[in-house]
Amino acid sequence: MRAAVRLAARGHGGAEPNPLVGCILTNPTGAVIARGWHDRCGGPHAEAVALAVAGERAKQSTVYCTLEPCAHHGRTPPCADALIAAQVSRVVYGSSDPNVIASAGAARLAAAGIVVEQLECDEVRVLNGPFIHRIRTGLPWITTKWAITLDGRITTGDGGPRWITGESSRKLVHRERGRVDVMLTGIGTLLADDPDLRPRGVRARRMPRRVVIDKQLQMSESCRLLKTVNDSPVELIVFPEVIEQQSEKISRLRALGVRIEPLERGDDGMLILRPLLLRLGREGMSNVLVESGGGVNGELFNERLVNEVWVFQAGIVVGDGRGVGPIRGLAMPAALPPSTRCVAIDRVGDDLVSRWLVERA
Ligand SMILES: NC(=O)c1ccc[n+]([C@@H]2O[C@H](COP(=O)([O-])OP(=O)(O)OC[C@H]3O[C@@H](n4cnc5c(N)ncnc54)[C@H](OP(=O)(O)O)[C@@H]3O)[C@@H](O)[C@H]2O)c1
Repeated sequence: MRAAVRLAARGHGGAEPNPLVGCILTNPTGAVIARGWHDRCGGPHAEAVALAVAGERAKQSTVYCTLEPCAHHGRTPPCADALIAAQVSRVVYGSSDPNVIASAGAARLAAAGIVVEQLECDEVRVLNGPFIHRIRTGLPWITTKWAITLDGRITTGDGGPRWITGESSRKLVHRERGRVDVMLTGIGTLLADDPDLRPRGVRARRMPRRVVIDKQLQMSESCRLLKTVNDSPVELIVFPEVIEQQSEKISRLRALGVRIEPLERGDDGMLILRPLLLRLGREGMSNVLVESGGGVNGELFNERLVNEVWVFQAGIVVGDGRGVGPIRGLAMPAALPPSTRCVAIDRVGDDLVSRWLVERA
C-alpha cells in the first residue's frame, strides 16, 4: 500500500481536482505484475492503467489501490466493473471514497464474489487528506510555506541576504508552484519582495492563479506580477469601497486582465478569508500554496484554514531585534490549532525541510 501511495503522488499537479490514486497488482505468489496511477484529470484511472499493463495476468491477482475503486460512469467507466471483468480475486483499498456519486465500489466488488479489504495506513490518510477535505468542506487544501532562519525569522532585516534558504530548497518550492492551482500572498510580501510567484526552472504541470490580499489596492503597477499577467492569471482581493475610491486604477488593472474582487470585513475590520477560499473551491481549485508574511498567515490560522505547514529552515542566525516571525496577530489561545503533526523531515542541500499537518483546520 505504501508503494501504491508513492505511485499516486506522481499524479500531483495533473490529477486534481480528482484524487491522487495509485494501484498495484500482484500475482498469487505476491510478485508485482502491474503498476498504475491516475496521471491527469480526465485520463484513465489508476486501476484501468494497471489492468491494461497486466492484461490476462490480472486474473486471480490481488489489487492494492489507495482509494476505493469507483462505481460510477464519469469521464471514464467504473473501475469496480473493470476489476470484476478482469476476474481479480482480491481488492485491498486504502480510504473509502467520500464522493457519494463515485462510492459503493467496495460493495459492488464484494457482491461479485471478490474478497475486499480496507487497509487505511497513515500514508494513505496523508495522501487522501486534500481530496477528502475538499469533498467534505468545499475548501481547497491550504499549505502555507515559510523559509526561516535558525532563530526563527522569516526576514533577515536590513542588509541581510535576499534569500534565506539555498537553491535546492527554492527548486522544491518552484516545483510545487507548478503543481498547485493558486499561489496566495499579501500586499506586504508583494511590496517587500516583488515576487512573480510562478514556477521557474522546473517542468510545471499547471500554471497557478496568483491571488493577492491587497485590501487598499496598494499594488505597484510596475510589479512583476503584472508583467506576467498573460502567462498566469492575477486576482486582487480588496475592501468593497476601494472599487469606487480607486476606480481609475481598477479600470487600468482590469484592462490588463487582472481580476479584482471585493471581500467583506469581519467585526474586527479585517477581511474574512473563508468566503474567498470557498469561492476558489467552487471554481475548481484544489490546492493553494501560501507564500506570504505573518499578516496573511496569522489571519489564515485565526480562521482555522491552514491544513499544512511546510517549513524550510536555514542555518542563518539573524540575532536580536532583527527580522520577524512567520505568524502575526494570532488570537491566542483560541485560534491555536489543537494538534500539529510532523509527517516528513528531509535535509535539502544545507536546509532542513519539515512538513506539518494541522489536524483540525
Ligand atoms: N521567509 C519567507 O518565507 C517569507 C515569505 C513571504 C514573505 N516574507 C516576508 O514577509 C514580510 C511581509 O510580511 P507582512 O506580514 O507584511 O506581509 P503579508 O502577510 O504578505 O501581507 C500583510 C498585509 O496583508 C494584510 N492582511 C492580511 N490579512 C488580512 C485580512 N484578513 N484583512 C485585511 N488585511 C489583511 C495586512 O494588513 P494589516 O497590516 O492590517 O495586518 C498587511 O497589509 C516581507 O518582509 C517578506 O519579505 C517572508
